[in-house]
Amino acid sequence: MPILQWLNKEEAVVTARNCSYRLLEQVPELSYGEPNTENMLIQGDNLEALKALIPTHAGRVKCIFIDPPYNTKSAFEHYDDNLEHSKWLSMMYPRLELLHQLLAEEGSIWITIDDNESHYLKVIMDEIFGRKSFISSICWQSRYSRSNDSNISLSHNTIHLYAKQPELWKTIRNRLPRTGEQAKQYKNPDNDPNGPWRAIPWDAPNLRENLSYPITTPTGKVRFPPAGRCWSRTEEQWLELVDKGLAYFGKAGSGAPSFKSYLKDASGIVPNTWWPHEEAGHTDEAKKELHLLFGKDNAFGTPKPERLMQRILHIATNEGDLVLDSFLGSGTTAAATHKMNRKYIAIELGEHAVTHCQPRMVKVIDGEQGGISKGVNWQGGGGFNFYRLGEVIFNENGSLKEGISFNALASHIWYSDTKTSLEQTEKSPLLGVHNGVAYYLLYNGILGDKRPDGGNVLTSKVLAILPEHPTDPENGKKVIFGETSRMGAARLKKENIVFKQIPYDVKGR
Ligand SMILES: C[S@@+](CC[C@H](N)C(=O)[O-])C[C@H]1O[C@@H](n2cnc3c(N)ncnc32)[C@H](O)[C@@H]1O
Repeated sequence: MPILQWLNKEEAVVTARNCSYRLLEQVPELSYGEPNTENMLIQGDNLEALKALIPTHAGRVKCIFIDPPYNTKSAFEHYDDNLEHSKWLSMMYPRLELLHQLLAEEGSIWITIDDNESHYLKVIMDEIFGRKSFISSICWQSRYSRSNDSNISLSHNTIHLYAKQPELWKTIRNRLPRTGEQAKQYKNPDNDPNGPWRAIPWDAPNLRENLSYPITTPTGKVRFPPAGRCWSRTEEQWLELVDKGLAYFGKAGSGAPSFKSYLKDASGIVPNTWWPHEEAGHTDEAKKELHLLFGKDNAFGTPKPERLMQRILHIATNEGDLVLDSFLGSGTTAAATHKMNRKYIAIELGEHAVTHCQPRMVKVIDGEQGGISKGVNWQGGGGFNFYRLGEVIFNENGSLKEGISFNALASHIWYSDTKTSLEQTEKSPLLGVHNGVAYYLLYNGILGDKRPDGGNVLTSKVLAILPEHPTDPENGKKVIFGETSRMGAARLKKENIVFKQIPYDVKGR
């Protein structure tokens, strides 16, 4: 496959792997609402934040939306958008790699961009996500006014859409509701109690002997298909429609055969690649949304409208699904996601994480009524936790740092051995079973002994009080991480145990 080459690409392709795992530290005074929430607002560089999320969230995100700096050579009030071209590519590459790891098998990623980097981004997306994962480059009419000082005035942004497994995604992708305009095709001239309907012609292209039967209209006129055409289905199927009272021959009752199709039975429409501003919002609308939230003088320069996010979230997710935006800006994705009862992880580097995103989400939880609120009947509620990047978990030589919590180490051990994220609801030395192997961690007095080394050593006594192998208590394979083992090699073999020593057998990368 042809791939894109640029200065220092070799460094870019190892950046994600070499990036240190950091802890995410909660900031209680900036968190808000219900504390038992999975919603996360993270302030920090998204390279490190995404890496920090890998052990806990790999393969769990249903929808990723990102609106990265477009590299327009501008200096916006809240961030710079002026990277040298290869630096921009080197910035994006490792972040896209991490996003790929975080995306669920049935998940999709949506990236807004303009002509400055769109085509280059498409090629690196093909490299990282695979050409087979490409779904579409959607054309969103971001502007309806014209700029007279441009050669060609910009009217759209591109939204590159990839699905990790397109066939799987197709089964979960939602259709769009019909707009008022589309529903206008349905009328009710005869006051049909089933409501508005439209007539679907019964004839179809082609000539087929068995589909050319006569049809008698209510006025007694006998009709055959028009020249060069046939009926669309068999006579039995036509008679079924007649029995159900769905046959229609025009007002006079002697016209071409058709049947009634009701608005109440019509399914939604398949999304297409053209998203006009009337349906998906525009950038002026986005600015007005922010003026309402923060006043004109304190607004953020390049927001997206909540309606654009609503459309993407509607197509790609259902209530309760996890959404991720790692270039959060003013917080639009988090706001729309929260109002639509999805969960979110939202990352922003700048100080506006605190001056804009956090207060915006506080207002949302308090029932703010701008943007899509009225459309989705938003009444307020829920909560989010605010985080900043904390200490690195492993030293430069890859070994474990002192004082790391049980949960952080458990997630890392689980991820480095299984390449899936840990879903442990209650703290236990038994982390879970993967491919028939049960994983245990003896660390930080998990067995109740709070002395520094208490319970961190594998002995016969400790083994006796560990939870059983959940699926094969007799002879299931166990991998046990601990500080040291006092059990000999023969006994370990007999018990079908592989012992791994902390910190030496815990991989930092
Ligand atoms: C185009 S704006 C996103 C606007 C957003 N969609 C909205 O509706 O407000 C891009 C954002 O990405 C942020 N950003 C740039 N580099 C980043 C990084 N390495 N980590 C996290 N955020 C970053 C910028 O600070 C900026 O706020």
